Amino acid sequence: MKVKVPENVKSIVPYPPGKPMDELEREYGVTNAIKLASNENAWGASPKAIQAISDTLKDLHRYPDGSNFYLVQAIADKFGFSADEIVIGNGSDEVIEFLVKAFVQSGDEVITSHPSFLMYQKVVQVRGGVNKVLPLKDMRHDLEAILESITDRTRLIFLDNPNNPTATVINPVDLYAFLNAVPESVIVVLDEAYVDFVEDALRVDVQSLIRDVKGRCGVVSLRTFSKAYGLAGIRVGFGLMSGEIAGYLHRVRSPFNVNKLAQVAAIAALGDTAFYQKTLRGTKEGMAWLQEQIKQMGCSCYSSQTNFFLVDVKGDAAALYEAMLYKGVIIRSMKAYGYENVIRITVGTREENERLVSALSACLSELTYVK
Ligand SMILES: Cc1ncc(COP(=O)(O)O)c(C=O)c1O
Repeated sequence: MKVKVPENVKSIVPYPPGKPMDELEREYGVTNAIKLASNENAWGASPKAIQAISDTLKDLHRYPDGSNFYLVQAIADKFGFSADEIVIGNGSDEVIEFLVKAFVQSGDEVITSHPSFLMYQKVVQVRGGVNKVLPLKDMRHDLEAILESITDRTRLIFLDNPNNPTATVINPVDLYAFLNAVPESVIVVLDEAYVDFVEDALRVDVQSLIRDVKGRCGVVSLRTFSKAYGLAGIRVGFGLMSGEIAGYLHRVRSPFNVNKLAQVAAIAALGDTAFYQKTLRGTKEGMAWLQEQIKQMGCSCYSSQTNFFLVDVKGDAAALYEAMLYKGVIIRSMKAYGYENVIRITVGTREENERLVSALSACLSELTYVK
């Protein structure tokens, strides 16, 4: 075989997902592994979503509704948008792809931060676009530097707000000033995958940002059912944007991009306030408890507006990650992101948090990091 692979594809480094639990059990001979590495929902999925999936299994021989009519309606009602301002994706990942497909041609520039969610850069690379990657400043998006790096070729700016992996949010006042300074020809994508966990005072009014664009850049908000709604495994997310931008995304979207089960599950999850509130409450309590325990081990914890947080473990994060695997606990090392001594932990259930604390305490003393 002598396939000719474009250079931009050859140089892509595949996305490194968190280690699956069954892989860990197979490779390390541990049982009852727990995964606190991918910012998933520790409390499972909404029982109402599971019931909706089960009720729909009998219809699997039929194509899904390509317009996502009822899900779009449910999102419109819940978030106060109209149907033409909503685009559903097979995960919000797919809406990122639509944006890049619709607006970026070879040689066009897209601005992102490092470290932030890795998918933006990969999708741009596939498209032959130019990634302009700016370092975070004090673990936050450096809005000033981003403004300075905008050129005539800039098409999109991705800001994950909160940022993954640092769990920081942009101060709303700074964000409004930034958006007023971005040229009208650019679209700013606010990736709000973790917005459900953000305290009210730090949230931005995306509806007015999307609608009041006179003399200002376009704004898109990305949301997901993978985190607070507990549906990471079925893949469904959405974007909120002007009808004009949505119209272009629909042109590049395949007709049945969101499967039937995902559509009914998402509708049911939106209506399950009890499960949603349980997730938010459990995350808040778990975060406070974990941080308290981990500080007592001599590590420092960074504050967070998400369901995960960073910990400075005062020693080699990659070695600690490896040692934790032997205890059956999957976390993330941030070494590959340039934070040598930092790990990322997703808040789990009470039992998972207790397992994490005891494994971390044992590993830290084995590795003799903390005096
Ligand atoms: C910032 C951010 N955006 C988007 C996603 C992808 O979400 P989805 O599961 O909807 O594709 C993630 C997943 O971890 C994320 O951290």
